[in-house]
Amino acid sequence: MHFPITESVTWVGKTDWELRKFHGEEYSTHRGTTYNSYLVRDQKTALIDTVWTPFAKPYVDELLQTISADEIDFVVANHAECDHSGSLPELMRHLPGKPIYCTANGVKSLKGLYHADWNFQVVKTGDRLSLGEKELIFIEAPMLHWPDSMFCYLTGEDILFSNDAFGQHLAAEDLYNDQVDPSELWAECIKYYANILTPFSPLVLKKIQQFAGLDLPLKMICPSHGVLWRDNPMQIVEKYLQWADNYQEDQITLLYDTMWNGTRKMAETIAAGISQASPNTTVKLFNCARSDKNDVITEVFKSKAVLVGSPTINQGILSAMAGILEEIRGLRFHGKKAAAFGAYGWSGESTKMISNKLGEAGFEVVNDGLRLLWNPDTEALQQCEAFGNKD
Ligand code: FEO
Repeated sequence: MHFPITESVTWVGKTDWELRKFHGEEYSTHRGTTYNSYLVRDQKTALIDTVWTPFAKPYVDELLQTISADEIDFVVANHAECDHSGSLPELMRHLPGKPIYCTANGVKSLKGLYHADWNFQVVKTGDRLSLGEKELIFIEAPMLHWPDSMFCYLTGEDILFSNDAFGQHLAAEDLYNDQVDPSELWAECIKYYANILTPFSPLVLKKIQQFAGLDLPLKMICPSHGVLWRDNPMQIVEKYLQWADNYQEDQITLLYDTMWNGTRKMAETIAAGISQASPNTTVKLFNCARSDKNDVITEVFKSKAVLVGSPTINQGILSAMAGILEEIRGLRFHGKKAAAFGAYGWSGESTKMISNKLGEAGFEVVNDGLRLLWNPDTEALQQCEAFGNKD
């Protein structure tokens, strides 16, 4: 299904209702996603981005029922990752020699992925491509989300095609932000930011400032995933400004794993201590072995502090906890406090190990952690409550 957006722009993407994992198995997509592709018609016609590889054949077939290959003058590849470029090999069989506009890093990525000798046209920030009455203005956006990424802006329609930035993994019957459940929309937006864009927050801030400096009118933001921002498009930009600025809410999150429930009891009792000391603070607990890691990361993103617990096994920590700590390290959170805890029976290295990992990940580790021998008894649980009571 294709949908007209304006007189000159048509959505020609693919809605993927079934997708539950993205980036291999790395990112959960509970609500599916879309791969947004746009056809812009003026005196010349440009196609902005394509869709993921498994949908290449039906995507190109449907596209060529809408417009003949001869009528497509330019292809714009805002980003080379396969969810947007995966249909290029199928498409370019029909468009031999037609130019593909992308960044210099886009050429490297596309050549590396497809080993094809397409007619690449390298663009930089501020370069313009005339379509007739309207122009596309290119804006490099490295690391949002890959080094090759760029945005493009359509004059006359005042649309920013922002690729991954401002997107969400949300499959919807409708096309626009004002047509979907806002709680679902914002949950997917913050999850997307937390899990994908957090490490690049300084670049997000700079890019938004740079775009604002261009002083271009903005009627709509059309990202490459999820719904299009037509109702107050600046609302997602304002959220990005908040999220990129060491975002936190009045929330403390406890992450733990447990073998025989000793560390679980510690987590629950520490949480009770926090709630006693600070009744207005939101406290959430996650057994990381049983929780979706991307949802957990989103809660860490929202937190002002995290407490992380694991029992000791083989002089180390449980594998689910090791996995989530590695995710957290890579995301480079700033401005958050942390502490460790864990039950043990013999050697008891887990607490120190977790504290070290949290420190290496950029958290302010506020104490040496709480380490309890065997299954916590009443006195030990009082220690947990007191631990939760501390600042
Ligand atoms: Fe939606 Fe970085 O690709």
